[in-house]
Amino acid sequence: MRIKQQHFRTIWQQSGAVCLIDQTRLPFEFVTVNVTTLAQMCHAIRSMQVRGAPLIGAAAAYGVALGVQQTASDAQVQDVVTQLCATRPTAVNLAWAAQRMQQALLALPESARAMAAWQLAQAIADEDVTQNLALGQYGKALIAAKSTVNPQQVVNILTHCNAGWLATVDGGTALAPIYAAHDAGLKVHVWVDETRPRNQGASLTAWELAQHGVPHTVIADNAGGHLMQHGQVDMVIVGADRVTREGDVCNKIGTYLKALAAFDQKVPFYAAVPTPTIDWQLARGADIEIEMRDADEVAYMQGQGADGQVQRIRVIPHESTALNPAFDVTPARLVTGIITERGVLTPAQLHTLAA
Ligand code: MRU
Repeated sequence: MRIKQQHFRTIWQQSGAVCLIDQTRLPFEFVTVNVTTLAQMCHAIRSMQVRGAPLIGAAAAYGVALGVQQTASDAQVQDVVTQLCATRPTAVNLAWAAQRMQQALLALPESARAMAAWQLAQAIADEDVTQNLALGQYGKALIAAKSTVNPQQVVNILTHCNAGWLATVDGGTALAPIYAAHDAGLKVHVWVDETRPRNQGASLTAWELAQHGVPHTVIADNAGGHLMQHGQVDMVIVGADRVTREGDVCNKIGTYLKALAAFDQKVPFYAAVPTPTIDWQLARGADIEIEMRDADEVAYMQGQGADGQVQRIRVIPHESTALNPAFDVTPARLVTGIITERGVLTPAQLHTLAA
């Protein structure tokens, strides 16, 4: 990703430490953090300094590497993986990466594990970038198809949450087709759902689209249906935290409502996912564990005050309680297509990708 014209990944390895961009500080401050222990990596994932399904997969892989540097016994490897898997339950990429590390390390002699862990974590991070670039090309073709009639016509794409560079190691998922289309000279404009409660759309998606010069407009979460009714949305592209083998799409809370509106208005609804986001073990989205986060994320908002300082303010009465389910499931019947690094498939075709 380009930040002030400099290339960055969201996570990288440097002299025995793992560096990451602290996403809780964006969009007002760009801060990187050095993570040197397993406990710090678990904290970074839980507190959402790193977030987004592919990125927390890579973070978990690096977390395993950090956790086996002093001791790499079978028990230690298993304990490290258990701790990482307990950080966030919904995005399958996290467990997928941690378990891939576990399987590979347990097959090696103990003395070879510490070094091998860094190499495999790096490989998992690199694969994510490659997959995202590939799915971006498939998604770009869908956008291009919308502008064939009139290449000067702007294609309006609505997205929810942040499924851009920041949610991955690099490249993004839902935003990958948009970047590819924009870079190829197609005219695109993005409707960015603010995505309460944590505002990943308003603070992260808007920020990274601005860094890349992609035209976009932030909208309140409830505006999408209205814009679709008025013909102002040509397609919806979202990311996902887990897609079942039957094509149910679990993503940030509020995605389901956008899919319902899109279905009603005959607006194509796509999920863009690298294949590690597909959970071949699960058929039904109803069986996905939905993370319940702290109610304070609903009760408070963070923003920049007139004095330039970042502040946290309460937005609900002190007498009220709040509830904070972090994800929802869009049933396959509302999904037009799933954009992967191996092509665009309907939910019914998805099983053909299973190994
Ligand atoms: O709670 P978050 O910010 O980790 O949720 C992220 C999302 O829901 C993204 O849309 C999803 O992970 C897709 S990532 C490319």
